Amino acid sequence: MSFEELRDLEEFYHMLHPRPVAVVITRCPNGRVNAMPASWVTPVSDEPPVVGVAIGSQAYTQECLECCGEATLNIPGPEHADLVYALGTVSGRDVDKVREFGLRLVGGRRVSVPAWQDAIGVIEGRVRQVVGVGEVKFFLLDVVAAYARRGLMGRWGWDTSRTSPLMHGWGRAFYLVGRRVFAKKR
Ligand SMILES: Cc1cc2nc3c(=O)[nH]c(=O)nc-3n(C[C@H](O)[C@H](O)[C@H](O)COP(=O)(O)O)c2cc1C
Repeated sequence: MSFEELRDLEEFYHMLHPRPVAVVITRCPNGRVNAMPASWVTPVSDEPPVVGVAIGSQAYTQECLECCGEATLNIPGPEHADLVYALGTVSGRDVDKVREFGLRLVGGRRVSVPAWQDAIGVIEGRVRQVVGVGEVKFFLLDVVAAYARRGLMGRWGWDTSRTSPLMHGWGRAFYLVGRRVFAKKR
């Protein structure tokens, strides 16, 4: 099989999608609670528990995270594609997205930022370190709480017979987790 060079080196990341989306909820300098979808989210360490999220300068969330230092990462379920996409098309600089999209919020457990009541799981974090890469800031967050909707987490992670985290391809394209395969025992 021969390989084909991608048209544009900047599109390298397409090969690392689809990947799970999180709705990043922050409190902002303008006093609002804001919500933005992010798919450039990754576990970084389990001891200590740290998660990283890459936020571009187009996103008001960059300022919000720098200002208030806390976030909840809310995992959307299969029915949330339209809402998640819409949250990524407007900025909290211009719009009160919580009100506009009727997001149902509930108090955070260990952070002062709220969580999204309709998420299938929530990770709460506090900014530990920020790494600048061009226009992007990679926020490393200490995970201070993590909880999933009862009955949806199984032995192998999300019970995909009952739900799926929403995975982002590119643009308006989303995926749900497909077939599970088990590696041979060794
Ligand atoms: C599914 C999806 C995933 C996205 N992932 C990211 C991401 O990881 N990092 C980023 O900076 N922007 C990402 N975006 C774009 C932001 O969500 C978008 O710029 C948003 O309007 C920023 O909102 P804010 O200005 O209220 O922070 C994504 C958009 C969508 C729809």
